[in-house]
Amino acid sequence: MKELLDRAVTNGNVLPRELNELYENVRDFYVYVDERGLGGCVALHIDMIDLAEVRSLVVHEDLRAQGIGAQLLDAVVQEARNLEIGRVYALTRVEPFFLRNGFRIVDKQELPYKVYKDCMRCHLFPGCDEVAVVKDLNGKAEGNT
Ligand SMILES: CC(C)(COP(=O)(O)OP(=O)(O)OC[C@H]1O[C@@H](n2cnc3c(N)ncnc32)[C@H](O)[C@@H]1OP(=O)(O)O)[C@@H](O)C(=O)NCCC(=O)NCCS
Repeated sequence: MKELLDRAVTNGNVLPRELNELYENVRDFYVYVDERGLGGCVALHIDMIDLAEVRSLVVHEDLRAQGIGAQLLDAVVQEARNLEIGRVYALTRVEPFFLRNGFRIVDKQELPYKVYKDCMRCHLFPGCDEVAVVKDLNGKAEGNT
């Protein structure tokens, strides 16, 4: 997972994750595995009672455009639904992927201060080109929405 994430970090699309941070948060992750090994990962990080972030979403370069990213995203959205979390979000440069999967673009400042203050600490602030995307889940388990 670390190798996969590190390659995506080089391309500037995901935030670096230290190995100890991955161990500490390993329960946040879903992975895609096939006969060649680990081909994708994603994390659901709970920020607040009603808000969670989609983090560290990466699919191996050789496996892209086959729906694996969508499956991984669906897994974390489903977990958020099961936990009755009302909204999931991501900060991303690949908003077309998220739009295709039911997210919508919002102004970053619409996200709670807790999220936004992390942006203010970033060296790219305020010129960052990441887009905030959200998916509203109504805080209900699947089938109740
Ligand atoms: C974004 C990512 C996870 C998508 O994984 P995937 O398995 O290819 O996703 P899917 O097959 O479910 O969907 C592919 C669709 O997503 C969209 N998409 C994916 N990457 C895109 C990009 N860089 N720019 C625009 N659209 C993109 C396209 O609509 C694409 O459909 P197409 O192949 O018909 O054009 C993968 O491209 C990746 O790992 N990128 C590098 C890391 C990254 O940017 N992660 C997101 C961090 S928020």
